[in-house]
Amino acid sequence: MGEYAVETQLRELRAEARGAIALAECLAALQELEVKYLGRRARLTTMLRSLGQMPAGERPRLGQLANEVRRELESLLEARRTQLASGQAESELVGERLDVTLPGVAAKPGKVHPLMRVWRDVEETFVSMGFEVVDGREVETDFFNFEALNVPQDHPARDMQDSFYVGEDIVLRTQTSPVQIRTMRRMTPRTPVRLVHPGRVFRRGDDDMTHSPMFHQVECLYVDKGIGLTHLKGVLLAFARSFFGPETEVRMRPSYFPFTEPSAEVDVSCPWCHGSGCRICKGTGWIEILGAGMVHPNVLRYGGYDPDLVTGFAFGMGLDRLAQMRYGIDHVRLMFANDLRMLRQV
Ligand code: PHE
Repeated sequence: MGEYAVETQLRELRAEARGAIALAECLAALQELEVKYLGRRARLTTMLRSLGQMPAGERPRLGQLANEVRRELESLLEARRTQLASGQAESELVGERLDVTLPGVAAKPGKVHPLMRVWRDVEETFVSMGFEVVDGREVETDFFNFEALNVPQDHPARDMQDSFYVGEDIVLRTQTSPVQIRTMRRMTPRTPVRLVHPGRVFRRGDDDMTHSPMFHQVECLYVDKGIGLTHLKGVLLAFARSFFGPETEVRMRPSYFPFTEPSAEVDVSCPWCHGSGCRICKGTGWIEILGAGMVHPNVLRYGGYDPDLVTGFAFGMGLDRLAQMRYGIDHVRLMFANDLRMLRQV
C-alpha cells in the first residue's frame, strides 16, 4: 500500500470513528466500537504494524498521524463513556427523537363567525338591489335614538326598548333606526335614499334563551317619490327568497312602531317545514323576522325631507335570529360566547 493511500485511509477511519462514537447510544455499543477501532484486529492496529513496509522517509510522519488518531479515538471513547454513564446523552437523544415519517399536524384555519357570514350575506343582497351600506353609531344621543324617530320624552313606546343610559341624553342605541335620521340628514334633498346598515344594539333586561342585552340588527330605508307598501313587500320577498330559498313566502301583520305608519310585523314561511307546521315555527308555519312600515311623516321631516313630496319604507330585522335559524343555534348567548366547540360545528 502506498504512503498516500495509508494517509487517506487513516483520515477516513478517523472521520468514520468520530461519527460512530458520537452516535453510540449505550455503553455496550461503545464497547463494540472500541474493539472495532482500537482492538487487536482493528484496521488502525494493522496499519500501525505495517508501517515498517513504508518508505523510511515517510515512516515517522505516518507513524505520528496513526498515533494521533489512536489517541484521539481513545479520548473520544472515554468522553462518550462518561456521558452515557451519566444518562445525559440518552435523555438528550430521547428528547430530540424525531420521526419524520409521522403525518404532520394540520393547521386549523380560522373561519368567519356565523353572525358575520349572515351580516355579509344580508349586506350583499341589499347592495345588489341598489341599497348603500352606511355607517352608524353605537353610542347615540337620545335625540337620534328616540326623539327624531317620533318617540318624544314620556312616550310609552320608550318602555318597549328599555335603554342603557351612559350620560345625560346619551344612550347605547336600542335599535339601528337612528341611522335613518343621520343618513337622511346627510343626503337631503337628494333622492333616492336607499340605505342598509347592520350593527350592534343594546337593551336592558333582555337576557334569556332568545334575548341578549347586546344583539344585532340590520336597518333598511328607502325614501323616494311614490314609494308604497308594494315596494316594501317586493323588497322583503326578494330578500327572503335570496336568504331562505326561492320557495319562501312573506306575510305582513298589522303592528305598531312610532316611526312608521302603517306598521307591520313580517313573517317568512318556515324554511324547515315550508308552512306545514313544525317544532321550529311552533306549528304555525311562519317565523317572524322583522318589523317594518311606511316612514312616519314626522320622521321624514326630522330627516330633512318633505312628506308631501316623498314617501318611504323602513324595516329593521334581528341578525342574530337569522344566524341562529340558519345554523341551528338554539341559545342566543352561544352566538357571543366564542366557545370554539360551538364555532367548529357551524
Ligand atoms: N327599530 C324597530 C325595532 O327595533 C324595527 C323597525 C325598524 C320597525 C324600521 C319599523 C321600521 O324593533
